[in-house]
Amino acid sequence: MNQYFATVARGLETLVAQELEQLGASGVEPGFCGAAFEGDRNLLYRVNLWARLPFRILMKVDEFPCCDADELYRGIQKLDWSNYLTPDMTLAVNATGKSDRLNHTHFTALQVKNAIVDQQEDNFGERSNVELQQPDVRIGVHINRDVCTVSLDSSGNSLHRRGYRPAVGSAPLKESLAAALIQLSGWQPEQMFYDPLCGSGTLPLEASLKALNIAPGLFREGFGFETWLDFDSLLLEKLIAEARDSQRELLPAPIWGSDGDENAIALAMANAENCGVLDCVYFSQIELTDVFAPADTGVLFCNPPYGERLGKDTDLGAFYKKLGDILKQRFKGWTAFILSGNKELSQSIGLKSCQRIAVYNGTIPCQLMKYELY
Ligand SMILES: C[S@@+](CC[C@H](N)C(=O)[O-])C[C@H]1O[C@@H](n2cnc3c(N)ncnc32)[C@H](O)[C@@H]1O
Repeated sequence: MNQYFATVARGLETLVAQELEQLGASGVEPGFCGAAFEGDRNLLYRVNLWARLPFRILMKVDEFPCCDADELYRGIQKLDWSNYLTPDMTLAVNATGKSDRLNHTHFTALQVKNAIVDQQEDNFGERSNVELQQPDVRIGVHINRDVCTVSLDSSGNSLHRRGYRPAVGSAPLKESLAAALIQLSGWQPEQMFYDPLCGSGTLPLEASLKALNIAPGLFREGFGFETWLDFDSLLLEKLIAEARDSQRELLPAPIWGSDGDENAIALAMANAENCGVLDCVYFSQIELTDVFAPADTGVLFCNPPYGERLGKDTDLGAFYKKLGDILKQRFKGWTAFILSGNKELSQSIGLKSCQRIAVYNGTIPCQLMKYELY
């Protein structure tokens, strides 16, 4: 049984814990910006392939008391690194956290790297090179309250980069955040889904991946664990084949996206094609003022521009008021979820929210507001 930690955006710890349990993890414990869990290699691969919310899955390899640079060096050298990397493999070290005497993450990472390559030099007379972008083994060290936790990053590039979205519009949502918002909303695939400000299509695409039971990891070039010494390629191939077999062909209810910008719609369609759902999801160019409810009931989702990321716009207040009016007048019977990072603008919507959920969009504190439209 290995110990793992799934890192996630702040505020989504409980949600990711639920997701991990659904994927078969045991001993799941939400922590700061992530959740710890236990399992075998099969679970590690499954979580990397199927989890929609985490950024990275770290595998813990050691934990030891560590007050200063000398203790750090000695602790790292106690591990037999030949279990994880040979001198012909590249490495990168990422340090987080700090203590009184280890308060520069760059120095901490350097000290860990030195301890590892010095051990290799002593044992083999040669050492691994550092490769920051695509290392064979990415090592994470976290310093907290004079304890050092050492992990290997099994994911490689962050899992939110699904690989289906090389094309992004302005201020796109991270795929993992879009998936989390959909999860938080309680939307079920039997309900119609519509994003009238869809940009590059992240929300409708994540909704369709969920509704069609498509594993989000299927579009990636690879995972970090594929260059580990213990990589089991047959196991990964089996899990990928099972994932492909378990996809559904048809959506139980329509998923729509529209945007006023024709370039954004072209991007959304290119992204839909990349994840094989172009035939299922409907995208069209529609100005917000021309938007209409495509069914009597459904769930409307959007993240309108809110200044921080699209530049200051004095008309944003009027835009939010218009959005509120359109929801009120044309979407009776629907439930709407709006993500906003600006309280004043949210008030301009002029509707009473029945729920507000705090989430972070990167470093921006936001709220997901829920409106029941009668
Ligand atoms: C914050 S972005 C949405 C990003 C999107 N969720 C994604 O992940 O790519 C806001 C979107 O609102 C669209 N938009 C702004 N004003 C609009 C209008 N008047 N009518 C329709 N779309 C509009 C923009 O083109 C932009 O794509």
